Amino acid sequence: AATGSADAPRAGFNAIPTSRADTVTLPEGYQWAPLIPWGTPITGSYPDYRSDGTNSGEEALQQIGSNHDGMHYFPLNDSSEHGLLVVNHEYIDQQVLHANPATSLPLPQDHVLKEMASHGVSVVEVQRAAAGGSHWEVVRGAYNRRVTALTEMEMTGPARGHDKLKTVYSPDGTRTRGTINNCSHGFTPWGTYLTCEENFRGYFHNTAQSAESQPREQSRYGIADAGDAGSWYNWDKIDSHLPRGMSERFDVSPSGDGANADYRNECNNFGWIVEIDPFDPNSMPKKRTALGRFAHEGIVFAQPKVGEPVVFYSGDDARFEYIYKFVSKALYREGISGDEVMNEGTLYVAKFNDDGSGEWLALDINDATFQTKASAANVSFSNQGDVLINARTAADVVGATPMDRPEWGAVCPRTGMVYFTLTNNTRREDEQTDAPNPRANNSTGHIIRWSEGSGSSFSWDIFLLGGQNGDGKVLPNTAQEAALDDGNLLSCPDGLWFDDSGLMWIQTDMSGSMLAGSNAAGDFGNNQMLAAEPDTGVIKRFLTGPNNCEVTGVVTTPDRRTMFVNLQHPGGDSEPGAFTSHFPANDGFSRPRSTTVVITRKDGGIIGS
Ligand code: FEO
Ligand code: CA
Ligand code: CA
Ligand code: CA
Repeated sequence: AATGSADAPRAGFNAIPTSRADTVTLPEGYQWAPLIPWGTPITGSYPDYRSDGTNSGEEALQQIGSNHDGMHYFPLNDSSEHGLLVVNHEYIDQQVLHANPATSLPLPQDHVLKEMASHGVSVVEVQRAAAGGSHWEVVRGAYNRRVTALTEMEMTGPARGHDKLKTVYSPDGTRTRGTINNCSHGFTPWGTYLTCEENFRGYFHNTAQSAESQPREQSRYGIADAGDAGSWYNWDKIDSHLPRGMSERFDVSPSGDGANADYRNECNNFGWIVEIDPFDPNSMPKKRTALGRFAHEGIVFAQPKVGEPVVFYSGDDARFEYIYKFVSKALYREGISGDEVMNEGTLYVAKFNDDGSGEWLALDINDATFQTKASAANVSFSNQGDVLINARTAADVVGATPMDRPEWGAVCPRTGMVYFTLTNNTRREDEQTDAPNPRANNSTGHIIRWSEGSGSSFSWDIFLLGGQNGDGKVLPNTAQEAALDDGNLLSCPDGLWFDDSGLMWIQTDMSGSMLAGSNAAGDFGNNQMLAAEPDTGVIKRFLTGPNNCEVTGVVTTPDRRTMFVNLQHPGGDSEPGAFTSHFPANDGFSRPRSTTVVITRKDGGIIGS
């Protein structure tokens, strides 16, 4: 793209400095208000949020979940003042969620129910409030819905009905219950929402098998084995089991006489992209197995073209994992459906060469190259469903490039270039560096981008290196390079989104010593959001968040005059009575709540311009 071309977007605000204030800070002329903090009643009997943490599991099923992440706004009647907000709820913090967090096992049944209910997705009708400005409100209407770790879902695509998806609940391998660790998201050209199952591995425990004897569907994904004390939340270790195997299933040990008698395959029903129709509250969510099973951060579509295959991308957020691409068999047309696009096509994984070229490698059991590489590696797959359930193993076999934790992708609406954040990878050693992942002990992350070429080729370069003290820089093109400065120094890019004008919004997720400012890489303040002009490399800090939050999830209304941003886990890993944030109450004592914030300009203008 030509630098400074006439239609190029401009970040037309003054960058704000870094901040360690326990609030939202914005440029001059902007204002914000909270909307749908965790616990807001949206459906059923609309149980009030109880600030002491005593809401029950049944009540949580009727309230906004916790740890807001990816999000999309679906206008109603094309309105920029009335629509459906659909929000992911990635995980829970037991210290924040419960009035009296359990300190030993087994867990009280209602703890587990409340934790499952606080995961998943909220669909909530919202509209601009009479007060105007940044004030929006929940509409108590029929669209409102909670999708949780308990919601019944359909398995679709090549792995539907596979032996490795069969459980005592679904002996034919066509159904499962719930979605978990819903991190980033996607939205389809046909108007549905996609929620992505990232760190599903943390929810299961194989109490019977060692790491060596676990099936590869578990071991390659890091599912806890018999040598581990338990899973993150120990949902299988409960004083009285929930009905219909709902809590038992998180123990994925083989027992009894075959897959249909136990939940050994339960974890194979997670790690997928899930499609939800927000306009039909009775629709059953569909897991799309054609897109592969891994720690899906999010999913992003290239601009679809009528008569051509639909193309989309998804990153596997773990150290040394891969970036994937899906190309549909169906050709795009107006009115096409998810069943047509997302169940049949080819899954590819990226190989980045050091010379700036790249290649998409097919993970297709009918592809001759794939077959050759699999047999050379002495790895066998019974059919394409097996390839998809073991997508990481398949990608290992073909020689994909291990990346520094691929998080969100975004596609520039002006150039079609695909950008991906690589948030950090402190375990990369000197001898493991390569051109696409050039730094050992990469604590501050980078942003890579590419343009599709002919056939399965692409060409890539690095757009940004996080960091400061001479380490952080932006490289908008080969002729330009600029060190990050006070107005844009950043670390650990995670959320990434293009608005319709082509401004790229970057959100950060630093944690630990990086967030505390005690890291040698520099003092970056609290997590933040910045706007980038992709052509010029001008980047300006737009928002800083409250203490120990992550800034993740952003969308505007179609008129770009209202922006929604999610602030996840303010207070971080809080201890009871010692919360490091009280956001959004900011009263010095309340428990922190993950929150969507609504941002407007005081003059009603377009955000960022
Ligand atoms: Fe849930 Fe990779 O962030
Ligand atoms: Ca993320
Ligand atoms: Ca992250
Ligand atoms: Ca997070």
